[in-house]
Amino acid sequence: MITVETVTGLREQIARFRQGGKRIAFVPTMGNLHAGHVRLMQEARRHAPVVVASIYVNPLQFGENEDFDAYPRTPSHDKVALLSAGVDLLFKPAESEMYPRGRTAQTFVEVPGLSNELCGASRPGHFRGVTTVVNRLFNLVAPDVAVFGKKDYQQWHLVRLMTADLGLPVEIVGVDTVREPDGLALSSRNNYLSAEERRTAPRLYEALCRLRDRVLREGMHLAAAEENCVIDLQSDGFRPDYVRVRRQSDLQLPQAHDRPLVALAAAWLGSTRLIDNIEFELKS
Ligand code: PAJ
Repeated sequence: MITVETVTGLREQIARFRQGGKRIAFVPTMGNLHAGHVRLMQEARRHAPVVVASIYVNPLQFGENEDFDAYPRTPSHDKVALLSAGVDLLFKPAESEMYPRGRTAQTFVEVPGLSNELCGASRPGHFRGVTTVVNRLFNLVAPDVAVFGKKDYQQWHLVRLMTADLGLPVEIVGVDTVREPDGLALSSRNNYLSAEERRTAPRLYEALCRLRDRVLREGMHLAAAEENCVIDLQSDGFRPDYVRVRRQSDLQLPQAHDRPLVALAAAWLGSTRLIDNIEFELKS
């Protein structure tokens, strides 16, 4: 695996791959890699002979009171994961490479509307930071295909919208959430949980499964199912931020004829904010 830390170094390597006429698949990450990230890199390999990954803890997507400084940075552990995933090129830039004019001067990219809903409602500016860094990374790496996890369902959707709106020649692939055996979605933020919170955490996904079952098996109305899910989470010791059922196609409110739906939730467990989602389809 080749590691580059500068934009110039990255461009040189990418040009070499291109000269060989090779397609490039890209997986952007913030490091602290786990089996979910590795799964994305394996999927990337199915789409192209060259897999490029990036590790960059992007300050633009963290709010004032969020965990930018505390976010786990684990370079030697990550290297093992990248090698096991067969990544060809790692881009690991410093902030001066990503935002040479400074993070506050950086031109930004923002998808209006959806960026400020769901997770965006309680994390102002978060998705603007995500789409800004992903757009810059796409321009630097110039991949044919980029792979994202559906664990961050809203992020995956916003990246697809941004790519379409800007006419970027990148195919966006979504990968199903990789979970622990007890159902908890793998996440770098799971490291923040105490032993007791870790035992409670799988109940977030269980609550979403119950929501789906109430809708599909009991015919419960979506609004009632959302409310019940909030109550379930509260009685399990979470502080729910939101539970919403949206249609899969555009994450807008489902209309009577919409069938493919997704239930999305964010909830605090102590000082850790967890997110998860579940896709399901109404019978016609
Ligand atoms: P990060 O949280 O490191 O996640 C990198 C990619 O891994 C994202 O596409 C995310 O959805 C995916 N991922 C995380 N946990 C997963 C799981 N359990 N199963 C499947 N995929 C999973 O998301 C980001 O970084 C950043 O916002 C980034 C896109 C890199 C922009 O800074």
